Amino acid sequence: MDLILRGATLADGRSGIDIAVKDGKIAALEAGIGAAAGREIDVTGRLVTPPFVDPHFHMDGTLTYGYPRYNESGTLLEGIALWRDLKPSLSHDWYVERALEYCDWAVGHGLLAIRSHVDTTDPTLGGVAALLEVRERIKDYIDLQLVAFPQDGYLRSPIGVENMAKALDMGVDVIGGIPHFERTMEEGAESMRRLCALAAERGLRVDIHCDETDDPLSRHIETLAAETVRLGLEGRVAGSHLSSMHSMDDYYVSKLIPLMIEADIQVIANPTANMLLMGRHDSYPKRRGMTRVKELMAAGLNVSFGQDSVMDAFGSLNTGDVLDAAHMAVHAGQLSGRDEMIACFRAVTENSARAMDLEGYGLEVGCNADIVVLQATDAVEAIRLRPPRLYVIRRGRIIAESPAHEARLDLPGRPETTDFARHTAAPK
Ligand code: FE2
Repeated sequence: MDLILRGATLADGRSGIDIAVKDGKIAALEAGIGAAAGREIDVTGRLVTPPFVDPHFHMDGTLTYGYPRYNESGTLLEGIALWRDLKPSLSHDWYVERALEYCDWAVGHGLLAIRSHVDTTDPTLGGVAALLEVRERIKDYIDLQLVAFPQDGYLRSPIGVENMAKALDMGVDVIGGIPHFERTMEEGAESMRRLCALAAERGLRVDIHCDETDDPLSRHIETLAAETVRLGLEGRVAGSHLSSMHSMDDYYVSKLIPLMIEADIQVIANPTANMLLMGRHDSYPKRRGMTRVKELMAAGLNVSFGQDSVMDAFGSLNTGDVLDAAHMAVHAGQLSGRDEMIACFRAVTENSARAMDLEGYGLEVGCNADIVVLQATDAVEAIRLRPPRLYVIRRGRIIAESPAHEARLDLPGRPETTDFARHTAAPK
């Protein structure tokens, strides 16, 4: 064996598990593996998981926060306008440099697969060319999947249709769309029909920015699911955001969810992004804008969480740690039941991997030896603490390592000794 991790706790609750790695694959996974290895690491009591996966990101825009100015209203529409102003000034080198900087952050967080949308309504397709280069340069570290995303509208932008085809011809993996940004509801629905037809024709998957609005009558997910079934694309189509479902009438949703199940829609929520962007036209009460995660999970749909943005025109925060998205989802969706929190951990690991159709993902014999060791005792504590990633392993090779935090993170409450404790000790 090349490497053995001993004493792991897995996200499903199994503990005392040894994981043996050979030739970049998981060769054995059980308690008490007898074989020896070139390197052995004691991970007793530590949570060990397959890598984190971000199924919804915008790598072309990342790390542009403040350029050309800040989004002061905080709305999605100001974000789109800012991005439109910034695009002409983006050079190939700056796209690549920012993307590589971000990927460094991602690796440090154990985030080893990312689905990034890339804007195809830039006349030069500069972002597409840059991210195709990045996909190649980082492939030994991160699986980067690219979605052709017509930010200014597939039909609304005069170059939307033509550049979608060009981007796919250049090698972009997935077809994207933005129906709620088309001129009319009818054009939004028409864009869904045409993009699904294109996916069927080219044999590609689909991932739509779908109904990212507080308008309860934004129902493009209905057309997306119906077209998915009509064209036999079940399981290969993702609905990202689905924010309007938060505001929809319950009766309508009771009809919609069975249709989504029939289409096996991959649900991708973006909890941090939508808590920030949605409800901006409300006074009080203020809607949360995260889709109905609890109900969609309960219905058996595959639900995953993405970050959407890290320091760009749409969101000023986020760090490359998808556990932040899980943490926000627990709060925004009131998913505080023990099993619900564990489901939120799955939403940033195995569910996201399924949404992206990643091959060889998972902690099972025969899977890729892509493994993350956290300074946490279980999945719930990982969401609570978002702790150091002690080891990040890719194809059996350690690609990032962090020292354990000195404070005793595994205990509820505070470290053993603090300034506070010393200064408030009772006088002798
Ligand atoms: Fe997005």
